[in-house]
Amino acid sequence: MSDKKEGKSRRELITLGSAFGLMGLAAAGTGGALFKYMMPVVSYGTPQKFLVPVSDLPDVGDELVFSDMKVVIRRQSEKKIAAISLVCTHLGCTVNRVETGFQCPCHGSQYDTDGIVVGGPAPKTLPWLEIKAVPGGQVEIDTGTVLPQNSFFEIA
Ligand code: FES
Repeated sequence: MSDKKEGKSRRELITLGSAFGLMGLAAAGTGGALFKYMMPVVSYGTPQKFLVPVSDLPDVGDELVFSDMKVVIRRQSEKKIAAISLVCTHLGCTVNRVETGFQCPCHGSQYDTDGIVVGGPAPKTLPWLEIKAVPGGQVEIDTGTVLPQNSFFEIA
């Protein structure tokens, strides 16, 4: 009789343990999914490099948008240029150039003209991208290499 009682108790213990185990797994799964949902997941896609002839660069004080590459090239002075990514740092939509800077059409993030976040859910500044000189009077913009903000490339 005490064996039966002990067996039942063991069965109850195993059942209870299994239930807690399943609840723990469900909580871990839910927590993981919630964490993943809350964290910005920006995919910049495959890093790509593209070439621009120096003769095609914008005039001083002007900008040129490369929509396909999601990059804007800014000419700060005769010799200084910069490339800024147009990929929103929230969830990766392409931002639009507006008078005050950049604006994301997806969830309303706003950036100033240097790409600094001034509103909305975007967590980071728009990336400034690496520019290199390449032979043949061209520059290469590397969308896979992010530089500190205000990193200007000096044209030779
Ligand atoms: S993708 Fe959400 S604000 Fe740009």
